[in-house]
Amino acid sequence: MVRVRSKRIYSSMVFALLILSVSSSDVPVNEEEEADRISALPGQPKVSFQQFSGYVTVNHAVGRALFYWLTEATHDPLSKPLVVWLNGGPGCSSVAYGASEEIGPFRVNKNATGLYLNRFSWNTAANLLFLETPAGVGFSYSNRSGDLFDTGDRRTSEDSLKFLIRWMDRFARYKNREVYLTGESYAGHYVPQLARQIMTYNAKSKHPINLKGIMVGNAVTDNYYDNLGTVTYWWSHAMISDKTFHELMHTCDFRRQKESNECESLYSYAMDQEFGNIDQYNIYAPPCNLNSDGTFSSATTRHSMRLPHRPQHPILGQLSGYDPCTEKYAEVYYNRPDVQRVLHANVTKIPYKWTACSEILNRNWNDTAVSVLPIYRDMIAAGLRIWVFSGDVDSVVPVTATRYSLAQLKLATKISWYPWYVKKQVGGWTEVYEGVTFATVRGAGHEVPLFKPRAALQLFKSFLKGEPLPKS
Ligand SMILES: *[C@@H]1O[C@H](CO)[C@@H](O)[C@H](O)[C@H]1NC(C)=O
Ligand SMILES: *[C@@H]1O[C@H](CO)[C@@H](O)[C@H](O)[C@H]1NC(C)=O
Ligand SMILES: *[C@@H]1O[C@H](CO)[C@@H](O)[C@H](O)[C@H]1NC(C)=O
Ligand SMILES: *[C@@H]1O[C@H](CO)[C@@H](O)[C@H](O)[C@H]1NC(C)=O
Repeated sequence: MVRVRSKRIYSSMVFALLILSVSSSDVPVNEEEEADRISALPGQPKVSFQQFSGYVTVNHAVGRALFYWLTEATHDPLSKPLVVWLNGGPGCSSVAYGASEEIGPFRVNKNATGLYLNRFSWNTAANLLFLETPAGVGFSYSNRSGDLFDTGDRRTSEDSLKFLIRWMDRFARYKNREVYLTGESYAGHYVPQLARQIMTYNAKSKHPINLKGIMVGNAVTDNYYDNLGTVTYWWSHAMISDKTFHELMHTCDFRRQKESNECESLYSYAMDQEFGNIDQYNIYAPPCNLNSDGTFSSATTRHSMRLPHRPQHPILGQLSGYDPCTEKYAEVYYNRPDVQRVLHANVTKIPYKWTACSEILNRNWNDTAVSVLPIYRDMIAAGLRIWVFSGDVDSVVPVTATRYSLAQLKLATKISWYPWYVKKQVGGWTEVYEGVTFATVRGAGHEVPLFKPRAALQLFKSFLKGEPLPKS
């Protein structure tokens, strides 16, 4: 493994050899960090970047620990920023989604025998830190089982901050590194809330976290405007009738966390009687019809508002370049004992299986912000770089929801609406405001980097550079 170590470690080793004439075992490396090193995952193609994974305890009293997976940048990792990626749900795993089907370097193959490379991995541009948060998601766990029943936004952001601080103690080379927080869907709450935690922490800390910016996609932002925009999207994309649209608009109180029964039954009618068997996370793509045991399912699972996993429906045929069953392969792969050993995961024999999303956490979510727009105002005032993107064929947190929500910030336009390009094609549209850059990704569903990997990488590179998206 010495061959693929970073320059810093390598040169300190040469130094130690020259001056002290000692063996490499005396090189001062952080033992905790070394214990987290991943040699190679089962069935993994050869790579030249370093990987680490393991646990960071965020609450000693009850025994709560969060699991992370760091895939360093392919070139010159020491000069590249640290990018934290969070998935939403609430209750969904960034190992399952972000790492394994969106921005990470590997994808899981169909029979879960191994991994193959993602050509458009974001670790070509940055060091990627996938965090499974809160405890109860993926391999992250709590020794107090009650934690699965009372976690919400509050604990998630507090624990995630503790995680970051302690993780940087373990990985000292990242301590002053530029940090960006990114994520999608319900991470539209996590990312700004963690940014706020960091800003508060930085104000009183001698060792501030060098937070530079955030980027979120198809992000849950504001109850009222998100719901208004969602129902509007369904109508404007001909998924529901005029009648249902008007009834929803007149009956539902979009500001409420929990809707009235009348409103709920209108939602049910829309989804069960009018939507049909579509993938709500990409309304023009075929849904997955495969169970994790390899059998086909014809059951119609009721839509779960914000879970970024896809409901299962009868076969409709394949859309080229996209396999709607990817998280099923991940569920087989990450439950393999040999995979867990190499990942330093599940060392305490967690009493349930690894799943892409935790329904228990999702169903029992304790507290959720009505709107994170006030945090946007704080982040803008603090000068953070803020990018908000949206795959425009998602009907779960659709582009209209995001546009209605962002409009509430009433920001001045810096660069007017224009189409942006990737490989001579319109990748989407963008408008740059004072403090926020908004961009759509044309033809992408809820998980933008899964559906449009090349466009998503372009978006990420422009974001990191702090430059507007290409005009040609
Ligand atoms: C949870 O309990 C197990 C078994 O007692 C223990 O080994 C582990 O360290 C505990 N986890 C934390 C984060 O304290
Ligand atoms: C798994 O799939 C790969 C290709 O995706 C194939 O080469 C291999 O033979 C398969 N293994 C098993 C055990 O089916
Ligand atoms: C953890 O390992 C145990 C076996 O030791 C297994 O039964 C359980 O499903 C695993 N849980 C997770 C979350 O990986
Ligand atoms: C649950 O939510 C309430 C507010 O709705 C909050 O006061 C309480 O601290 C939350 N509990 C936990 C464990 O976060």
